[in-house]
Amino acid sequence: MEKEKLEALLEDMSLQEKADQMLQLMGMFYQLDVNAILTGPAAAFGVSEEDIGMAGSILGTYGAQTLMEIQKNYMENQPHHIPLLFMMDVIHGMKTIFPMPLALGASFEPELAGRCAAAAAKEAAASGLHVTFSPMVDLVRDARWGRVMESTGEDPYLNALMAEAQVKGFQGEDMKEEGKVCACIKHFAGYGGAVAGREYHTAELSERTFRQYYLPAYKAGVDAGAGMVMTSFNTVNNIPATANQWLMRDVLRKEMGFDGVLISDFSAIQETVAHGYAEDKRDAARKAVEAGVDIDMMTSCYSGYLADLVQSGEIEEALVDECVRRILELKNKLGLFENPYKDADPEKEKELILCKEHRALAREAVGKSCVLLKNEGMLPLDLKKKTAFVGPYTDTRKMLSNWAVTGDQKDTVSLKEAAGEVFDQAVTTYHRGTPFLDRDMKLVGFESIEWKGATPEDGEWDEEAEERMFAQAVEAAGEAEVVVMPLGESFLQSGEACSRAMIELPRVQMKLLRRVAAVNPNIVVVLFTGRPLDLREISEIARAVLVVWMPGTEGGHGIADVLTGKVNPSGKLPMSFPYSVGQCPVCYNAFSTGRPCREGDNNRFFSKYLDIPNKPLYPFGYGLSYTSFTFSGVMLDRKEMSEEETITARVRVKNTGSLTGTEVVQLYLQDVAASVVRPVKELKDFEKVTLQPGEEREVAFLIDNEKLSFIRADGTVGSEAGLFRVWIGNCSETENVAEFRRT
Ligand code: NOJ
Repeated sequence: MEKEKLEALLEDMSLQEKADQMLQLMGMFYQLDVNAILTGPAAAFGVSEEDIGMAGSILGTYGAQTLMEIQKNYMENQPHHIPLLFMMDVIHGMKTIFPMPLALGASFEPELAGRCAAAAAKEAAASGLHVTFSPMVDLVRDARWGRVMESTGEDPYLNALMAEAQVKGFQGEDMKEEGKVCACIKHFAGYGGAVAGREYHTAELSERTFRQYYLPAYKAGVDAGAGMVMTSFNTVNNIPATANQWLMRDVLRKEMGFDGVLISDFSAIQETVAHGYAEDKRDAARKAVEAGVDIDMMTSCYSGYLADLVQSGEIEEALVDECVRRILELKNKLGLFENPYKDADPEKEKELILCKEHRALAREAVGKSCVLLKNEGMLPLDLKKKTAFVGPYTDTRKMLSNWAVTGDQKDTVSLKEAAGEVFDQAVTTYHRGTPFLDRDMKLVGFESIEWKGATPEDGEWDEEAEERMFAQAVEAAGEAEVVVMPLGESFLQSGEACSRAMIELPRVQMKLLRRVAAVNPNIVVVLFTGRPLDLREISEIARAVLVVWMPGTEGGHGIADVLTGKVNPSGKLPMSFPYSVGQCPVCYNAFSTGRPCREGDNNRFFSKYLDIPNKPLYPFGYGLSYTSFTFSGVMLDRKEMSEEETITARVRVKNTGSLTGTEVVQLYLQDVAASVVRPVKELKDFEKVTLQPGEEREVAFLIDNEKLSFIRADGTVGSEAGLFRVWIGNCSETENVAEFRRT
């Protein structure tokens, strides 16, 4: 539709019609027999029948046939025949579920995350969707927060690359194209900073920290052209993000140049009342629209009060027009005025969903996202050896994640199924060994989750039943040469509203591990998890530990590939695994303090704990391979650079083992003294190199002024003259360092 036509359309709309365009409801309001998925509280809405019929967008419903039907009925009744927008949380895949985002972060391969997004977009578009509420680009540092699984981790640089790749993957060059959907970056902003990792909690961030660490990934998503942004639930500078004019108008729109559609998170406009920022829903509507929030997700604030606010002269109609214009423009960008069904096509849907290519990509992604934390010669497994699989993830398909709301467990390949294809069944046995959760563990609020068979399948059981499971598994473990133990958090323990104060495995699983260890020390733990866990005891007991996250549809195959050595692991931790929960939040790119604690220093008055070390158990960027690599010292082509000049830093990396392997070569910088203190180390670049046994290759990184720049004391961005350190290695704790000066 041409611009003038769109303006004329806007001009012709009634005030209430405009307010309704700004309302988003769930598909269930359309009383069709639809696949509506509830992803938030659905309290009393107070939305009138008329407004329900006129809402401008729908969330949480998919399926080509269903959405085409809804669209057709809607457009017939909408006074200007404006098409609806269909949105959905396609977080890490539509039906083909890829590894969870934190796992994709571990691949250190943005291009891979982009391909996964593109495949998800194809399936979603064929299912009739126009927008995905993804990627979530929130920076995360606190393993207690359940949503760390949805992020790509603790590093601003890696997150920004991942954000860009995913947005481009979802949208392509032009979101109108077949197989593309609009990306919505979220949650703007600082949601990952929730105090103490408690869900929906206050984020207490200085503006400098906020800008330096948290904003870069959102900015990268905006720069990549994301058509939408979602507000976050938290406050920013004590003002709820969803009604924060400084955040939305000054930072997002003016500074970052975002001109797309801004949507509230689920019921977030109304929640400004509970925050203590708005008196009532009417006040909330006024404050959110003044901040420029275009769509009200699942409350009646906008549909109920915007028209009245304009009529009473409390807000200008131009404010409403501004929002509706952006919504209509998005519909136009997606080509919906010409083709309201876009790519919805039941045939295509069948063809694309879980197609061979997507499954192959999902399997590749699992292989690339597994992180090997420890290996005392156990892996890859010797398939001739008598092997017992013992653990609750041995024979289950519940490995998609809490956020894979469109995925089906039935399409998932379990570890047992995959192992059945490659292991010698004459010498392999499989035992669940234990339920996922402790008998006394209550996941409050999950009782009713039956829509995906997601209730802890264990239901009721007693001590005797537990003992029987243990005994049988332990006996098998005692008879085996190798025990592979697929343990982990239940997939219901991470994701939205899944904060945990203790980040250990359920006691019942630890008990099994100890009992197995008493009869057989040759243990390989395969760890399923949505977050970094406290792995101290596991690391001590097991002779190998492989983190496989929530791996998705092809989980079984991807993990078996790594266990058998078909794939040599190359994943690196995108988030530190703390020594204990007491360190949280912990990250590698922190500040030094005036009394940094040095290893082995017994002096009392240093920044440290009395009972645990400062360092995480496994740091950011860490991950082993089945082969070994050596790094030469860091070679710099010059020792000084001005603002206009560059330095090339090089290392020679050699595969010194006997298998082909891939290493993530990482470049870190430190500005040793500056007008404001700078992090002890920051990731500035990385490269993945694959080397044959004995092969050596030089890896070079260009250091330019941008890599040295930061927000200086006076608020300007740039570098400062002085000493810099540069590390190149295979982990954030590398000590392979050189120095140079910015003159
Ligand atoms: C709430 C979540 O915070 C958000 O990420 C999601 O997109 C919406 N619900 C819609 O499901």
